[in-house]
Parts: sequence; C-alpha cells; structure tokens
Amino acid sequence: MINSLARQFEDIYHSPATSLSSAPGRVNIIGEHTDYSDGLVLPCSLEFCTKVLYRKRQDNLVVVHSTNYPGESDSFDVSVDISHGKSQWGNYIRAMAFVIKRAGHRLCGVDILISSDVPQGSGLSSSAALEVAIGGMFSESSELNLTPEKIALLGQQAENDFMDCQCGIMDQMISAKGEPGSALMIDCRDLSTQSIKIPEDLSLVIVNSNYPRKLVDSEYNQRRINCEQAAKKMNVSMLRDATLDLLAQYKNDLTAVEYKRAHHVITENQRVIDAMSALANSDMATLKRLMSASHNSLRDDFEVTVPATDGLVEICQAALEDNGAVRMTGGGFGGAIVCLCRAEDVRTIKQAVAEQYFDKFQLQADIYVCNAGSGLRIEKLRVAVT
Ligand code: GLA
Repeated sequence: MINSLARQFEDIYHSPATSLSSAPGRVNIIGEHTDYSDGLVLPCSLEFCTKVLYRKRQDNLVVVHSTNYPGESDSFDVSVDISHGKSQWGNYIRAMAFVIKRAGHRLCGVDILISSDVPQGSGLSSSAALEVAIGGMFSESSELNLTPEKIALLGQQAENDFMDCQCGIMDQMISAKGEPGSALMIDCRDLSTQSIKIPEDLSLVIVNSNYPRKLVDSEYNQRRINCEQAAKKMNVSMLRDATLDLLAQYKNDLTAVEYKRAHHVITENQRVIDAMSALANSDMATLKRLMSASHNSLRDDFEVTVPATDGLVEICQAALEDNGAVRMTGGGFGGAIVCLCRAEDVRTIKQAVAEQYFDKFQLQADIYVCNAGSGLRIEKLRVAVT
C-alpha cells in the first residue's frame, strides 16, 4: 500500500517522498456533545487513517494532490497570507498552514500526496484525521517539534477559525493521541487523558447510516451557542461545572431548549465516568444501560439524531438483546452508530441490518468491524522506489 502510494508520489513529483505522516479517524464510545462544554469523552482511534506522503521543497510552495480526488490539486505560497482556495479538501491544508503561521512558526514548502480510507461524511472524523496528519507533516518538515496535543489544538483552531465549524477538541485529540487496542478518556477541560484497554472479548462495530447529512455545521454551531447560553444563565463558566441540582434551581431562567441541552451535557458527563469501569470490566449490562441512555438523551434532549440513526439503533439493540450496547456516535444529523458486542454476535448485527434497514429507510448501511488503531505517527521512509 505504501509502496504503491510512494510510486504515485514519484509519478506526480518526479522525486521520491522522504516521509510519511498518518493520523486516524475515530469512533466515540460515549461522551457526545460534551467536549465544547469542557466535559468528558471516551473515544477510540480507528485503523482507518489518512496518510500524507511528503518531501520538502526548496521554495515556499505547498503543492497538494490526493488519491481520493484524482485530477484535482491545490497549491499555495506559505510566505504570504493564506486565504481560501477553490478546493474544499485543499482548504484543510491551507487551514493548518494558516493556524501554524498565526502561532508564530515559519513554514517551508512541501510536495504532498494524501490518501485516506476514513469513510467521509459518516461522523468518523475524516477531517480531524486530515488536520492532524497535515499538522504532523508541517511540524516535521519545518522542524517545529510540535507535541501531539499542540497539533490537536491547532487542528481545532483550523476548524474554528478557517473552516467555520465551532467543534470541540475531541476528534483532533484522539486522532493525535489514540493508542492501539485502547479507548481514551479525555478531560476536555485540562486535556488530561486516561487510557482504557478495550477487553479482547469485545468487538467494536460501526454501522454507517449513509443518511444524506444536511446543515450539519449550522445546527452544530447552534447547539454550542445553546450550551454557552445555558451556562451563562446558571452563572457557571461551562456546563461542565453545572449539576442537576443547579439546573433545577435555574429551570425558570432557561428556555425549554437550553434546559434540554444542559440536561444532556450534565447527564452525559456522568455516563462517561460510569462507562470507564464498565468498559474496562466488559460489564455489558451497564454499558447497554449507559449507551442506550446516551442515545435517548441525544435524541430527546440534544436533538441531533435522525429517524435513520434512531432506527439503526433500534434494529441493532433489538437483535443483540442483552448481548450488546448500542448508540449513535459522532456529531449526529445522520452519520454512524456504534455497537459493542462479542465477536460471535457481529453476525447478528449484520443479519438484522441486512433484513430490516433498507426496507424501513430505503438506504444501504455500511458495516465496519473495527479495532482501535494508533494515533499520529510520523516516519522517515526507507522504501526504495524503483
Ligand atoms: C463532532 C465535533 C466534536 C464533538 C462531536 C460531538 O465530531 O467535531 O468536537 O463535539 O461532534 O460529540
């Protein structure tokens, strides 16, 4: 795979790539829409990842090709102000260069070839994977020595300040710092992490609804505003600091929508704490209860599910009965659901989805049985290309 990518690089740039930066997509086990309220999340990095092959140039140009968008390319000069270009995916590279320069670093020109197998538009963080892999590439090629955490923060700034998405820090942090075989509890207030080994008897199954997502960024940004307003009215700096008692006390000051959003975040933070030991101990009954409560809260209080993801959760949970835990995962408004179950029950999910999903929603789902993969990796290439 790397050999063939390296060959493509050489075909495009007539010189071999010297290095490879790769960063994964993620699935969130629990702790949804809590990160931008300084809350707790429990995602894991996937083996699906974005690879960035590169070679330093002698000038200030960044030239970008992607195997995912053959025939399209982008290039820009890092020595002048960076603005948006025509290519939507190219703008993520520009966004990273923009925030790294804004942080006071000097960037060198590079030739880049990107290739990603993170499913796009499914809520598995293909854009965070791209930002983190590009951050790693700029850090190494311009000798900036950025830590994975710093790269994650820059990735979030790229989304917030260049791509107009007011996302939290979860996706970039897990892509930068994920560990094979483990989930990572991230405290989005101080960015401390605690890794939790995923028990070997548990399988991680992602079912992508393939529901066409619309207005995702504007709805997402609106949720964030609702949370900030609720916190302000309760006189706390972030919803992380609120409790159910405080919420009850301020109920009349909040709009009905703000109340529901705050109720989700407060209860979801507690579910993350409870899920940590349940996951470590493979305690399926508790995981089922927590993941189901999380899904219902995202459906009723946070209002980010759609009938297709609600339906998939129902189909999979009914098929697994007490042998699995199921919920929507990621930002919502479509996207994927995640199931935790034993290896022998993966078949049950596949069968139930094949029998019922299309009939109910006229959509085909994609099913991925995943392992937790590694976070950001940067390596010098030793492969000789012939
Ligand atoms: C998107 C955002 C994250 C997070 C999730 C919801 O993936 O990028 O920051 O808010 O939605 O948990």
